[in-house]
Amino acid sequence: MKILVLGSGAREHAIITALLREQPRPSVECAPGNAGIAAEVPVVALDPNDPVAVTDYAVLNNIELVVIGPEAPLVAGVADALRTRGIAVFGPDRAAAALEGSKTFAKRIMNEAGVPTGRAVRAGSLAEAEAALDEFGAPYVIKADGLAAGKGVLVTSDRAAAVDHTTFWLEHGNVLIEEFLDGQEISLFLLSDGHSVLPLSPAQDYKRALDHDAGPNTGGMGAYSPLPWLDAQFGSENEFIDEIIETVALPTVRQLATEGTPFVGLLYCGLILTDAGIRVIEFNARFGDPETQVVLPRLLTPLSGLLFAAATGTLGTLPRPEFSADVAVTVVLASENYPQDPLVGREITGLDAALRVPGVSIAHAATAARGDTLVSTGGRVLSVVAVGASFHKARSRAYEALGQVSLEGSHYRTDIAARVA
Ligand code: AMP
Ligand code: GLY
Repeated sequence: MKILVLGSGAREHAIITALLREQPRPSVECAPGNAGIAAEVPVVALDPNDPVAVTDYAVLNNIELVVIGPEAPLVAGVADALRTRGIAVFGPDRAAAALEGSKTFAKRIMNEAGVPTGRAVRAGSLAEAEAALDEFGAPYVIKADGLAAGKGVLVTSDRAAAVDHTTFWLEHGNVLIEEFLDGQEISLFLLSDGHSVLPLSPAQDYKRALDHDAGPNTGGMGAYSPLPWLDAQFGSENEFIDEIIETVALPTVRQLATEGTPFVGLLYCGLILTDAGIRVIEFNARFGDPETQVVLPRLLTPLSGLLFAAATGTLGTLPRPEFSADVAVTVVLASENYPQDPLVGREITGLDAALRVPGVSIAHAATAARGDTLVSTGGRVLSVVAVGASFHKARSRAYEALGQVSLEGSHYRTDIAARVA
């Protein structure tokens, strides 16, 4: 099968690594990719957000499946354009991708479908917002209604900071004031063909920049999979997954289908396990980063077959994907001053030594080759992944590998998966 992956981050690198593990190997290319991806597959200098450019390329090059990594091409209508030309695509049309792009759309779908989520009030003015802040009380949760590149959400007990954030985002549209939900967070990915879903194994993401969940929210500083503590609460991972399929994923997918916007692609359920039960914090319309880097290395079922079945409406004929009993941990190496204003263009060394640590692979997040040197090009630079028979083993491998990597001013969290090791 000839596959084109769109995107340039560690998530896309992890998707490509999983595809290349298959026997027989599918033919894979990536647009635009990064230095790590370019070392493994051909990369194409193509704007992944341009529906016409992507579609023309796919038609001319006999691409049989396009896999969309990030949200931006979804919002730009790239999946719509490919479908119109009859090309199989893993990723929802623009209308269904609003499940991620518009928090008020997502809340409406959840309410119509009876999906458990926090109470929320949409505010168009500061007066409305302040009334909602006072109704829910501290800690305050304020969300920009729209794609905000991970910067739209603030959780704070400081009312003045809550008002500042609200005032800033009101200038860009509506805000959502939400009830604070307390508990462990879980990311569960489900493949959807618009009607049926198949689950992947759950993961946990570390969103804050610093150890012990201090510092600002980021795109994600590390992750691990599976979640051994689910067993105590649900009996087993499968029982947890069954509950999410019945109460969250299928009702959502059915509601979207009923409304004429079937969801084909990856339904990312961002969940929180409160004392009162599971609640959805958010949906995303694509694989999560860095969770993908710990979920896909454990996947035993060939990924291309799953993605193609989702893209072509035949997921209902397949059994659930299988996962290795091995565990996986990833730690993200971030640039100096990430997430505020990352300093980029610096040399990265030591990857060969890092890759000699058993069980370690490195998904490139923001790298480019400058002559013979590798340089950083963004805030999250590398996602160092380690698998092992235990979390203790996988963690120590990941940190041993990170110790080999040099990038001036860079930082990473030292407590990823510590709670399960
Ligand atoms: P989101 O962009 O919606 O995923 O939010 C980013 C992060 O903010 C989440 O991963 C949570 O850690 C936190 N968060 C969002 N909504 C809530 C909520 N209602 N209660 C508590 N924490 C939240
Ligand atoms: N890991 C969070 C996200 O992908 O949105």
